Amino acid sequence: MSGKKQHMYQCVECGFLAAAWSGKCPSCGSWGGLEALGESEGAGGGWRDSLSTPVAVADITSPGRLPSGLDELDRVLGGGWVDGSVVLVAGEPGIGKSTLLLQSCGCIADAGGRVLYISGEESLSQVALRARRVGAVSGGLRIAAGTEMEDLLSREARDADLVVLDSVQAFGVKEVPGYPGTPSQVRAVALRAADLAKSGGVPVVVVGHINKEGLIAGPKLLEHMVDTVLLFSGESLSAYRTLRAMKNRFGATDEVGLFEMRDKGLIPVADPSRLYWSGLEHPLPGVAMAVTLEGSRPFVAEVQALTSSTPYPYPKRTARGFDTGRLQLMLAVLERRCGLATASMDVYVNVTGGLSVRGPHADLALCLSVASAARDKPLLPDCCCIGEVGLAGEIRPVARTALRVREAKRLGFRHALVSRKEDDALPGGIRTHHVTTLGEALKVMGI
Ligand code: TYD
Ligand code: MG
Repeated sequence: MSGKKQHMYQCVECGFLAAAWSGKCPSCGSWGGLEALGESEGAGGGWRDSLSTPVAVADITSPGRLPSGLDELDRVLGGGWVDGSVVLVAGEPGIGKSTLLLQSCGCIADAGGRVLYISGEESLSQVALRARRVGAVSGGLRIAAGTEMEDLLSREARDADLVVLDSVQAFGVKEVPGYPGTPSQVRAVALRAADLAKSGGVPVVVVGHINKEGLIAGPKLLEHMVDTVLLFSGESLSAYRTLRAMKNRFGATDEVGLFEMRDKGLIPVADPSRLYWSGLEHPLPGVAMAVTLEGSRPFVAEVQALTSSTPYPYPKRTARGFDTGRLQLMLAVLERRCGLATASMDVYVNVTGGLSVRGPHADLALCLSVASAARDKPLLPDCCCIGEVGLAGEIRPVARTALRVREAKRLGFRHALVSRKEDDALPGGIRTHHVTTLGEALKVMGI
């Protein structure tokens, strides 16, 4: 049995087991990922906990949390760095991962914590320069530079309140073959980080790079090995950055943190709704307002539609920030239930500010923007449209309407169009119009 096992190979990407080595994994198609099982286990290290004595849930205390010092980061983490957890912060080069983490380290050190920031990519003086730039200068923040894991994870790391490894691709483990950044090295480094986190009860943050396909570089197993994966992203020409959790064992994954990169580091965005919506001076045809939710945070989204007669036998349907399939469905509902035919028109839909709208809550705004564009009439001014549109043309309620209407009211909207079936208690001070069908909604909106 054991003799046979030595001849087994496992893909570091997907875990597929193969009896023979090949350059390409037969299961996931990745190249160079098959490793002899015995070899990788022996060399890669890895912690093996023996089974603990079973304990009643009530007798186990929850791990503590260390506030990161940045509210937007805490919102995404679910309240701070969790003791003994490993967090992977991934993002494109230059997006601001090192800056974000140094700022958090600085805040924790300011509050009296001991933080160890280990850079495998930059020299001590480079890190210190950046730390000074973002004001992370407290004595509790210690920085180290190097690439050999064994040297770096000294006793100092075990005594720290937070350890940051920047980045998982830059470090190496001596006994494991291959250069830093190769799948087996990345996995070995992540295992050491997890070992430090679990044995020392300290939160360990590892930075990860994104490859040219937009995926986290390194083996897919890396994402399984860590407790939380945060994705830091932004448009290349914009100073705004978004932080989302792709996986979070200790919190929700639908919260979003918003930052702006300034000359002294990242600052939180004060009023996120205004990022995507600036308010219209005059009502325009083809524009409708939806209120979308990112986690518990509402955003007003401006949905714009344009229709034009088509020179093609197959009219174009283009949607940015919306699913094109949803747009086609809504066009069919508009035609069959409201007599608004768009078969001879190209239809373009866009959500301004690069916002992506997921879920059906913006169906009503989508239909109304198209109808308004096709009839070249603006909608009722200062009105937000919140509702799902069914295939029968009925307007259905959506989740957390009261929260959405409250946000619209805060931004100065005077009307809200919602489903008649809505049973949320809606706030006062804003006129709510309850409608049953899309036809009725068109009438209320004046088109
Ligand atoms: P960095 O944190 O090095 O990105 P990453 O670690 O994700 O590769 O951020 C690099 C960019 O951020 C760089 O282009 C300069 C810019 N930046 C600022 O605009 N202001 C600042 O205060 C800092 C520290 C960086
Ligand atoms: Mg960096």
